[in-house]
Amino acid sequence: MRFSIRTRLTFLYVTLLTVSLLFFGAAFSYSLFKIFMYRVDSQISSVANMMVHTVIRPSGQLFLPQDFDIILERFFGIRTAGNYIQVLDQTGNIVARSSNLENFTLPISRDTYMSAMKGQTTFEVVRSSGRYPVRVVTKPIIIKEKGHVAIVQVGSSLEGMDEIFHSLAYIFTLGIAASVIIASAVGWFLARKALEPVAEITNTARRIGAENLNERIKVSVPDEIGRLASTINEMIERLEKSFKQIKQFTADASHELKTPLTILKGEMEIALRSKDDAYMKEVIASSLEEIDRMSYIVRNLLDLAKMDVEKESAPKDIVELDRVLSERVEILRKLALDRGVRLDILKNKPASVLGDQVRLSQLFFNLIDNALKYTPQGGSVELYLDTEGGMAVFSVTDSGIGISKDDLPYIFDRFYRVDKARSGAAGGAGLGLSICKEIVDSHSGSIEVKSDEGKGSAFTVKLPLAVRV
Ligand SMILES: Nc1ncnc2c1ncn2[C@@H]1O[C@H](COP(=O)(O)OP(=O)(O)OP(=O)(O)O)[C@@H](O)[C@H]1O
Ligand SMILES: [Mg+2]
Repeated sequence: MRFSIRTRLTFLYVTLLTVSLLFFGAAFSYSLFKIFMYRVDSQISSVANMMVHTVIRPSGQLFLPQDFDIILERFFGIRTAGNYIQVLDQTGNIVARSSNLENFTLPISRDTYMSAMKGQTTFEVVRSSGRYPVRVVTKPIIIKEKGHVAIVQVGSSLEGMDEIFHSLAYIFTLGIAASVIIASAVGWFLARKALEPVAEITNTARRIGAENLNERIKVSVPDEIGRLASTINEMIERLEKSFKQIKQFTADASHELKTPLTILKGEMEIALRSKDDAYMKEVIASSLEEIDRMSYIVRNLLDLAKMDVEKESAPKDIVELDRVLSERVEILRKLALDRGVRLDILKNKPASVLGDQVRLSQLFFNLIDNALKYTPQGGSVELYLDTEGGMAVFSVTDSGIGISKDDLPYIFDRFYRVDKARSGAAGGAGLGLSICKEIVDSHSGSIEVKSDEGKGSAFTVKLPLAVRV
């Protein structure tokens, strides 16, 4: 089962908090315990040391009167207060005990006794006199000449420490439990707060369809989620733009095809009723023109559709642009002559690019065709092919009618024509430049236009040169 991010976040947060609190509690208690024990050990060990040096006579005899602890404290200044003291002979029998032990004895295990016999000092915690544990040090008294004389045991009740640790455990348990409960509630609330924008993004995204692509997600703060929302908004914007373009394109395409069809239908209906052969021929001739225009549009539309689909898989051959240009110009020379426009190649530097020859030839044709079409009689069109900074630079400069600043941004749009009436008569559909743009884009190049209305235009195409190996 998958839990929600909110549950997982809260769980993670609470788990981390619990683990850190437990770890902190354990480390704190352990350090405290260690410090406590160290102090107790050094205290009982110093009393045991003093005992060792005072309870033995130079002869090796033990000096242990009744109430020896009181005497030790009064006469020798040894502070035994609070410590249980017990002295055993070398066989392990108790020979003296401090008065505070009353009826109890400090137990000595076999291991401890054996260690003492080996001359080792042992620290241990024992439980015998009452409820509280006692920390006991067991130390042998050894005299060089006599060997083992006795064993001294000094104990200190751990009553205080035991209580402190019990209270500490209680406080920690309560504290950790309370923190975990509060943290769960706060974490749950915070996670909800943090994820609120995500819920909003989800709701908005769910609402958005092809019909309301103008809706946007509210971006309140520019944090990670804000950036996600902005990114989705940008994506919706791009979708909206593409949708609009597709709608516009479909509408324009149907309109462009419907107009010649209507004209055709009207003319043919009249021709059908006419008995005049000459008139009929005229109608057929003009119908053929319309059909040509329609097939021209359909061909261009197909080209555009194909380029949209083939973007990645278009052929990539070495194309010699200079040769393509010469061939194109040969074909277009007649058209230039008919129009009374001079067509010159000013420079044709050998330049090869990687790409699709048919498309590149179409690119040159469309640009030169435009220049010839929109240049009045007596004008000139100049072509120029050069290389510059790893790019092939091709430009078409005409002395034609030019394009106004208002129209310039749109001339690469599909079906866009500056003067619809005039270009229409000239057969233009407004697709040539959009095809050029597609071709340039698919060859990773760029196309730019500079134009002065009434003076002429210059189109410049830049394409990356093929790297020769
Ligand atoms: N060299 C030019 N001089 C002046 N105007 C131009 C030039 N080239 C393009 N235009 C303007 O830009 C418009 C778009 O050009 P485009 O080549 O896309 O379409 P078209 O020439 O009208 O039709 P098509 O190329 O599909 O036959 C043209 O209608 C024309 O108004
Ligand atoms: Mg054109």
